[in-house]
Amino acid sequence: MSKVKNEKLAAEGDRELEWARVNMPVLAQIRKDFERDKPLKGLTIGTALHLEKKTGILLETLAAGGAKVFCSSCNPLTTDDRVAAALAKQPNMNVFAWAGQTKDEYYSCLNSVLDGSPDIVIDDGCDLIFAIHEKRKELLKKIIGGCEETTTGVIRLKAMQKDGALKFPVIAVNNAYSKYLFDNRFGTAQSTLDAISRATNKLIAGKTIVVAGYGWCGRGIASRARGLGANVIVVETAGTLGEHESGYHRALEALYEGFRVMSMDEAAGLGDIFITATGNKNIIDKQHLQKMKTGTILANAGHFNNEINEEALNSLAKGKREIKENVDAYELKSGKTLYLLSEGRLVNLARPSGQGHPIEIMDGSFAVQALSVKFLVDNRGKLKPGVTSVPTETDNLVARLALESQGIKLSPPTKEQAEYANSWKEGT
Ligand code: ADE
Repeated sequence: MSKVKNEKLAAEGDRELEWARVNMPVLAQIRKDFERDKPLKGLTIGTALHLEKKTGILLETLAAGGAKVFCSSCNPLTTDDRVAAALAKQPNMNVFAWAGQTKDEYYSCLNSVLDGSPDIVIDDGCDLIFAIHEKRKELLKKIIGGCEETTTGVIRLKAMQKDGALKFPVIAVNNAYSKYLFDNRFGTAQSTLDAISRATNKLIAGKTIVVAGYGWCGRGIASRARGLGANVIVVETAGTLGEHESGYHRALEALYEGFRVMSMDEAAGLGDIFITATGNKNIIDKQHLQKMKTGTILANAGHFNNEINEEALNSLAKGKREIKENVDAYELKSGKTLYLLSEGRLVNLARPSGQGHPIEIMDGSFAVQALSVKFLVDNRGKLKPGVTSVPTETDNLVARLALESQGIKLSPPTKEQAEYANSWKEGT
């Protein structure tokens, strides 16, 4: 019972899946354990994740653990139709996803996942969990818990929790060190720059690249763009972000990293390529678009397509046309032309130029997901509704397995060193 674009793409999808499978050693190890122990036997898992080859290997791992899987994408543009077709052929797999969905199709696919009546949900951006709480409340009593993949989703979940609206435990997979330190930083950096290069085929070296947002994703993008020879400007916003972080700290960190730092008002007229990665809206607004040079390229690497104000772009334009795949040319009334990549949606995932993070990165992130699902099952009925952390042992295990999969084995501290690390009496 699946709905995909073209079942005939399955053979191609199988080849994509095979390539991901042989390059995801951490998930392979977990899969072996799942196959033996069947920890998910009798359970249904509903997912809203960017449906591409690496995600396919996570879904296979869950199915190997005994689960019935219902999956959709978490974005209308990010499904790899070949992979969706291949997964739809597998036992215990129900797929509702294709690339280029309308908004209605997107939400109807989420609904189809929920029609499977999940015990556990895995979300990326919180749309699925939000839909359960808003429209499918009858499912709440059956749900053991959920997992959330991304920063934006965790922020939404915490806001739900603050309002007393979140009715089951959700593990903030994003907040595990073995996820955000690597996925958000190195993963987003490579996948974003890869996607911009694929879409435009333009040289990065020598360009002025403006990176908006210096969270983990922005840090990664700025650093790798510099490595490719770009002049990088970092844009941050005044204000507090949490207990120990603010836009001021982030801006200062970027400055000490050697980047130019300024406001978007100042940067707007200087950049050749703009990349937003803030998790907030209208970061590039009408007054910024008006200042931009002709030929400027606009890309978004944040979860939602609201970081670049597309309405403002439309209001300034006399016409828009798809000049090449993933690139829309906006001809402004002022005579300038601006180029928007992938409709302002996640540039690193919107197909075909966006292919998601590198395989090794997603091996780690999805290993955290698989083990978090098992943790929810093992602790069924014991966790309170609300956002909860990935257990430290899981976090450490994934980092260790990822290292070992690269042939690196660390030696433990000596007994003397372990004692010293825990003592408060001995000084020098
Ligand atoms: N592939 C699948 N999910 C992804 C994500 N959240 N980020 C990058 N690549 C992905």
